Amino acid sequence: MIYLDNAATSFPKPACVCNEMDRCMREYCANPGRGGHALSLKAGMDVMNARDTVCRLFNIRDSMRLAFTKNATEALNIAVKGLATPGCHVITTAMEHNAVMRPMSTLERDMGIEVTLIKGNDYGEVDPDDIRREIKSNSVLIVCTLSSNVNGIIMPVGEIGRTAHEYGIPFLVDASQGAGALPVDVESWYIDMLAFPGHKGLMGPQGTGGLFVREGIRLRTLMEGGTGSNSEYEFQPEIMPDFLESGTLNTPGIVGLGAGAGYVMKTGVANIHEYKSHLTELLADGLSQIPGVMLYSPADKDRNSGIVAMNLADMDPAKLSLLLDKDHGICVRAGLHCSPAAHSALGTAGRGSVRFSVGWFNTENEIMYALDAVDRIAYGVLG
Ligand SMILES: Cc1ncc(COP(=O)(O)O)c(C=O)c1O
Repeated sequence: MIYLDNAATSFPKPACVCNEMDRCMREYCANPGRGGHALSLKAGMDVMNARDTVCRLFNIRDSMRLAFTKNATEALNIAVKGLATPGCHVITTAMEHNAVMRPMSTLERDMGIEVTLIKGNDYGEVDPDDIRREIKSNSVLIVCTLSSNVNGIIMPVGEIGRTAHEYGIPFLVDASQGAGALPVDVESWYIDMLAFPGHKGLMGPQGTGGLFVREGIRLRTLMEGGTGSNSEYEFQPEIMPDFLESGTLNTPGIVGLGAGAGYVMKTGVANIHEYKSHLTELLADGLSQIPGVMLYSPADKDRNSGIVAMNLADMDPAKLSLLLDKDHGICVRAGLHCSPAAHSALGTAGRGSVRFSVGWFNTENEIMYALDAVDRIAYGVLG
């Protein structure tokens, strides 16, 4: 099988991730922060080490400001719902995933918040000045994806962060597409909250993710419960990360995420981006030469995090992805990719597209094989 669905979740995982999770399960998987015995302390220490590693990757100075979650969706819900108040105004982009859009729509319906969606250019790339123009006195949050899960377009997050900072509006970045594959610096980009999955570019297991919350940002909790701290206190402890980490943590997942983040740091984010960009360009250039192919992603490395979105003539994207899977052993994703507004922006509303997403473990040969497969299918359809 050739796996080109890394935007959904990266696969395979580095050996160090599998080994560390296996070691945790066999040797020390006690409950972290819930006991004074040696195994609980060891589990707690390794969770802490994972927290530190992830923080180094994103230039988060105080690792206590990072809470682990079960995925990026949970982190985004905590941030959006934790900050919004009745009647407030939120600015976001048309390229966001449903992990942002659905909480926004729910708050619009149930709490009367106002949401402004910024449309971008033909690839969905937004102009920070368009965001600036929409800021109002009741704007409490600006949310932007680091790059699109539909076509890979990289957003000008640093510039948007500067604008948000200038107006004193909290800035939330959804780093689901790009964490581990693009540089992220919460300090120089003025990011106040960073939501990320552990199972995509950070190469950790599914069921992991996290949320960085800058000191001074006050959220309401979505969930309260045991934290292993201040047990006599009847409310949720306000200290981070306990404030956002109720209940037993996913210890094997978190140590796996820590190993994945360590692997990314050792390999170098710049090297990962360079290599993925090379494969992305090869794929986009090759696809653009196949008759009937329509591309919705830019090929250049400064604008794409590693995704090529396409359609073939008037073929249903689901059919193309099925043929790639069944006849050629190639895993891609078809449809709306949980981002209907992004498809409206790209002119593929309703129909969707086929998404090829490359990863660190793909090879040039695999890309050439995939190109040959699309070429054969196109020949069969168009003659
Ligand atoms: C841009 C974007 N945001 C959020 C998510 C949700 O991530 P998770 O599945 O970790 O909740 C995804 C997943 O594909 C995504 O691509």
